[in-house]
Amino acid sequence: ASKMKDEDKLYKYEGIIYSSIMSPVENLEALKGMDAREDDKMLVAYPKCGFNWMVAVVRKIMSASTGKKVVNDMPPLIEFFSPEIQKTLVQMPSPRFLGTHLHPDNIPASFTAKKVKMVVIFRNPKDTVVSFFHFMNKNPVLPSAEPWDKFFSDFMTGQVPWGSYFDHALAWEKLMDDPNVKIMTYEEMKENLPEGVRMIAEFYGFPLTEEQIKTIAEESTFNAMKESSQSSHGNLGNVFFRKGEVGDWKNHFSEAQSKQMDEEFQKKLGGTKLGAKMKY
Ligand code: A3P
Repeated sequence: ASKMKDEDKLYKYEGIIYSSIMSPVENLEALKGMDAREDDKMLVAYPKCGFNWMVAVVRKIMSASTGKKVVNDMPPLIEFFSPEIQKTLVQMPSPRFLGTHLHPDNIPASFTAKKVKMVVIFRNPKDTVVSFFHFMNKNPVLPSAEPWDKFFSDFMTGQVPWGSYFDHALAWEKLMDDPNVKIMTYEEMKENLPEGVRMIAEFYGFPLTEEQIKTIAEESTFNAMKESSQSSHGNLGNVFFRKGEVGDWKNHFSEAQSKQMDEEFQKKLGGTKLGAKMKY
């Protein structure tokens, strides 16, 4: 089936590839002047690593801790904001919850200067590229990623929106010991969601009771979130909540592609702390 879509143009901004539809250059330029606040809470993820999942988790954590109602809407990606919308962020009450898929070099410098707490989500690159492929194909505003073999090789060379997965991973790997950075993985959240919720809440400084943690974890399973996706994401519900599993890459990768990814992972992240954390 064909779909009507604008042609997306990938372009380089300070060495990183971005999408002209999702992160136009004027947005990225305006972000340079963004003032972070010390109590901002930042969520960072390379695309398709579970960002929307964690957005929901963090909103529930903040709501449980502050008593304010959960806002159930599209995620707060700062690079989606036009320069005009960026100006309105000044009026947002503290603590602000913000998110981004930006490469760390392109995150506004004031976030580091103000020591803003950043939770960073990574996911096995094999499942990430499969999720990315389906996302591009299902999203009505993005060009199709077909055929799979072409998208796979574009992902391997970093010719995809937000650039190379491995560039992001290597940049965060250098920041693993930064006390203001907490790297979490999709797989560890899948394995033990209550523990993941507890770790994120503690890191951001929102301690919760065991009961609150349990409730948030129950409300944040894939099935629970898919069910409420119509209200949280409208028609994009089934674009963002597809399968929610570990290992779906096995249904897409050829043996040669699997080997190529293994070698690339080994070359780039083998022997690193982030590589070990990802239990690849
Ligand atoms: P799949 O395409 O493998 O299903 P992002 O939000 O960063 O775009 O990531 C999207 C991926 O996270 C999709 O992966 C989606 O299904 C998965 N996801 C969303 N909510 C989830 C949940 N509650 N539990 C597990 N995975 C979830």
